[in-house]
Amino acid sequence: MKLNVLLVAAMATVIAVTTAFISQDKPSDEIDAKVQDLLAKMTLEEKIGQMVQYTGFWDVTGPTPSEGQSKRKYEQIKKGLVGSMLNVNGAERVRKMQEIAVNETRLGIPLIFGLDVIHGQKTMAPIPLAEAASWDLEAIEKSARIAAIEASAMGQNWTFAPMIDISRDARWGRVMEGAGEDTYLGTKVGVARIKGFQGDDLSANNTIAATAKHFAGYGFAESGKDYNTVDVGLSTLYNVILPPFKAAVEEADVKTVMNSFNTLNGIPATGNKFLQRDILKGKWNFDGFVISDWGSAAEMINHGYAADLKDAAVKAANAGSDMDMESYAYVDYLKGAVEEGLVDESVIDEAAARILRVKFELGLFDDPYKYCDVAREKELLHHPDHHAAVLDMARKSMVLLKNENNILPLKKGQKKIAVIGDLAADKDSPLGNWRMSADANTAVSVLEGLEKYADVKYARGAKLLNDNNTNFFTELDVNETDKSEFKEAVQLAKKSEVVIMVLGENAYHSGEARSRSKLGLPGVQQELLEEVYKVNKNIVLVLMNGRPLTITWADEHVPAIVEAWQLGSQSGNAIADVLFGAYNPAGKLPMTFPRSVGQVPIYYNHLNSGRPTSDAIFWVHYMDEEVTPLYPFGYGLSYTTFEYTDLKVNAEDAEAVTVTASVKNTGEVAGEEVVQLYIRDRVASVARPVKELKGFEKIKLAAGETRTVTFTLTAKELGFYNNNGEFIVEPGTFDVMIGTNSAEGLAGSFELKQSL
Ligand code: BGC
Repeated sequence: MKLNVLLVAAMATVIAVTTAFISQDKPSDEIDAKVQDLLAKMTLEEKIGQMVQYTGFWDVTGPTPSEGQSKRKYEQIKKGLVGSMLNVNGAERVRKMQEIAVNETRLGIPLIFGLDVIHGQKTMAPIPLAEAASWDLEAIEKSARIAAIEASAMGQNWTFAPMIDISRDARWGRVMEGAGEDTYLGTKVGVARIKGFQGDDLSANNTIAATAKHFAGYGFAESGKDYNTVDVGLSTLYNVILPPFKAAVEEADVKTVMNSFNTLNGIPATGNKFLQRDILKGKWNFDGFVISDWGSAAEMINHGYAADLKDAAVKAANAGSDMDMESYAYVDYLKGAVEEGLVDESVIDEAAARILRVKFELGLFDDPYKYCDVAREKELLHHPDHHAAVLDMARKSMVLLKNENNILPLKKGQKKIAVIGDLAADKDSPLGNWRMSADANTAVSVLEGLEKYADVKYARGAKLLNDNNTNFFTELDVNETDKSEFKEAVQLAKKSEVVIMVLGENAYHSGEARSRSKLGLPGVQQELLEEVYKVNKNIVLVLMNGRPLTITWADEHVPAIVEAWQLGSQSGNAIADVLFGAYNPAGKLPMTFPRSVGQVPIYYNHLNSGRPTSDAIFWVHYMDEEVTPLYPFGYGLSYTTFEYTDLKVNAEDAEAVTVTASVKNTGEVAGEEVVQLYIRDRVASVARPVKELKGFEKIKLAAGETRTVTFTLTAKELGFYNNNGEFIVEPGTFDVMIGTNSAEGLAGSFELKQSL
């Protein structure tokens, strides 16, 4: 595949172009006038009240709270000293609480109700990392839309999603909640999710405000430990961490941004003026409001950044954190701080105005109960259309990692199928973590899905957990010793033609506070796999997990591996459709799979070292491990095969560079392929990664069909942020690659004569 590379003379000058960090004034509108009007009527205490968010404390359909925090919160809501509640769920409950705010307070300002609607409300979609593996932005947007429809039917006006933290560390449990390691993909996915939640009209009763979180750097926690220190250089901050947030504000008009628990280069995000005031509200002109993370203002005391809760309130408010989630810092100390002159009243006015503005935009002042219709709630939760959509999303999210000798798909009449693994019968783990409203044990299990296709025999092999009453708030008790059921599973495998093993993580192995130092199959599952393999090598391994795992042994031995993540309510049906070929898998990994934990953080878009990888001793390598990943970013197979030819680059146009390639379906069945485009800026004033994703297109090809795919590279794709946060495009040589994943493809190059 000879490349058609157009050479254009290089110019040495560096020209700073786009002013991506320059602010523009937005015209004040009708809503601003209403906000200012209301603000003028409010006391200082009432304005601070808007900045306070409490968690749900009281089943308002039950008795009035009479003691402790509940009583205090209730009394404060009645006085108009609370702006928002989280975790109050259900149309009826929300209505009851809203009635207090609207009917009993002096100004009748409605509350805004927020919840972590991360991947579905009742009808559960795949976990976000899985959805990102679909590279299907339309489907992802639709999934968020469905979550918003159901959440809004249960009284919610606001979701704390999407999490758009980029992370390169599979030890960090919250990778399940994001879109993986890549900024380009993560940005597109984040924008799609926000559009899905917020829809075209925020004031409609089925759209909700979204939250871009966690601002910023939370995904770079040292050693993958949740909440840990984040120390990153400016180049990583500007080029890797911030762009999804910038797009959330500028492209998707996200209504709220949540700050984060971590320190960023020594300053806690919640008290970080540089992040919240200078960049977010200043350069990006964000007009929504910033919500703290749960208690993150108070946590600045532990960080050694605030002396006490009062100091925390002062530092958080001055730094631009508008609403305090559950720290009790603002409610207890902000008024005094203003009176003492530690916080200017204009800071309070600004925060309250931002919050009121979103409430007006949601239409809460027109009808505070628009989300509280019990009939609508009944009609929409678990609507069949929603289940059809999450089934589609689940199929799209699966990644075929290995398929030796085309062992998959299984034939419909295939006899003697054994199914082994605790997760095969699990109706709860597929719901994933972060499913605040889901009903436990309601997913279609793999076994249930398979039974529709074939008569399968099941042996658990080993329990995954000692105690199945595990939930969001409990530690997992993993079975590390009990192998008493191995024998039965091995005997079943011996008698079978093919063995489907469903192994991986429980739903609560990943998510918040679920950091792991080992990334293998938890408990005794690896041993079980090896025991079964001894008697039957015809194994199809179905992985259920919320993060990349080190499945190096399985990759060497097991002929077929399907990455099925945690796929939500329709999990088992989607998996069965893929295993029996009713759906041809097309997912691609949004995160690199390491060979061993020691390789972490491992990611495709790293910088080159001065001594790039080689077998020689004084060059980048491990003494005891390969440097390459087990599966690279963007990797995934299909039941058909694709051939890439004819890469062409046209860099003649002054506005853009076009790159094309032909992709042919060379197999026997129709299939979809995510065609990926990567670039490398060879020499730059700040060193650039060895490869960066800058375009992708998912195409469907009939057997034998060929299609030419065209990508356009403009300043947006070819430029980068320098260490002053300025976006620049530098002329010079660029490498370009179009391929099936980040490690394989057609390569070419071009000269960029001038800044675009
Ligand atoms: C998480 C946030 C979440 C909040 C409210 C925190 O622990 O970090 O992402 O939105 O809780 O539930």
